[in-house]
Amino acid sequence: MERLVTSSLKLGIIAGGQLGKMLIQEASKWDIITYVLDNDEDCPAGKIASCFIKGNHLDFDSVYQFGKKVDVLTFEIENVNIEALKKLKSEGHRIVPDPEILELIQDKGLQKEFYKTNGIPTSPFTLCESETAIVQGIEKGDIHFPFVQKLRKGGYDGRGVAVINNRDDLKKMLPGPSVIEEKVEIIKEIAVIAARNRKGEIKCYPVVEMLFDPNANLVNKLICPSSIAVEQSEKATNFAGEIIELLNMEGLLAVEFFIDSKGGVIVNEIAPRPHNSGHHTIESIITSQFEQHLRAILNLPLGSTKLKLPSVMINILGADGYNGPVIYEGLTESMSIDGVKIHLYGKKITKPYRKMGHVTVLSSSLACALKKAEKVKQLIKVKSWKES
Ligand SMILES: Nc1ncnc2c1ncn2[C@@H]1O[C@H](COP(=O)(O)OP(=O)(O)O)[C@@H](O)[C@H]1O
Ligand SMILES: [Mg+2]
Repeated sequence: MERLVTSSLKLGIIAGGQLGKMLIQEASKWDIITYVLDNDEDCPAGKIASCFIKGNHLDFDSVYQFGKKVDVLTFEIENVNIEALKKLKSEGHRIVPDPEILELIQDKGLQKEFYKTNGIPTSPFTLCESETAIVQGIEKGDIHFPFVQKLRKGGYDGRGVAVINNRDDLKKMLPGPSVIEEKVEIIKEIAVIAARNRKGEIKCYPVVEMLFDPNANLVNKLICPSSIAVEQSEKATNFAGEIIELLNMEGLLAVEFFIDSKGGVIVNEIAPRPHNSGHHTIESIITSQFEQHLRAILNLPLGSTKLKLPSVMINILGADGYNGPVIYEGLTESMSIDGVKIHLYGKKITKPYRKMGHVTVLSSSLACALKKAEKVKQLIKVKSWKES
């Protein structure tokens, strides 16, 4: 018989970053026993898990032994040893989302082929084994500038992506098998998180829009609701629902989209887990993405994804120039602003641009939330007594 939420259910989470930490915070509300596997004892989730197990998520034995200790196994990162997950599954262990789905998503090449096969709009692409093959493709006229090179495996937060505008940029190419995509003229980047349980119930969160810092070309703020047209928002939501259904997936699926210069809504990439673009859901949506993930993987009814208040989310990033034990500035002043909710992940060491926490700002109007978020952005600084 399947065990639902009981005080004896053991949930295993592979990797103990901030997503794992926030998942545990929700799991503890239902008295679920949580196990975390991570190499770093000081990882954000390690200290609040019921049980921390030291081990590498890419190592077969670590993942396999960890999986045997728990009733339900999930993950907060994509980069996990698939062979260990498959073996656990073959032995009857419950792993959600399914290892086959993770295997597909781990590889950006397989992901793109999946969109093509299923008629999901995505930028045109070719697959290349090496940098030499890319150069040959250019010489033969199969690959045109500008293009975007993405390593098929292991990339995250922009690492593993190179924008190649011209011949001069070829020196920026990354070594390894990669996807070569046409460079999209991006007007906006948006994301939709979908959830599905075993019964096949699906719920999607409202569209989130990323605002970029015009100077650094970094995502600066995430806003919800987004300002895109209703038809575009419906398209994105429908694609997210369609993809999670096609994958026959249980759990959360975050879908990143581009709105291109023709107004088209095209899929960029997907992630089968809680996502940075869903942090605001903790305060601004009736059911947070973390609670929804638990509901989805435990085959419970999915919760409402209704927005309570407009919100803006900013990541708290390590300031440039500091590398060492962290010191925060401006937290108290930020907390004095109405509607400001601060999350610190508990990372002991700051590095330039490392995600150290986030802030969600809630207000009855998005314009007001944006103003407050800008103020918080100026106030909070993540430094160290050690300069790099
Ligand atoms: N085909 C493309 N055309 C233009 N910009 C792109 C394209 N693909 C990715 N990018 C830019 O690079 C960023 C990172 O790419 P993405 O595939 O999302 O990798 P990551 O896994 O690091 O998030 C995107 O958010 C977008 O700004
Ligand atoms: Mg991305």
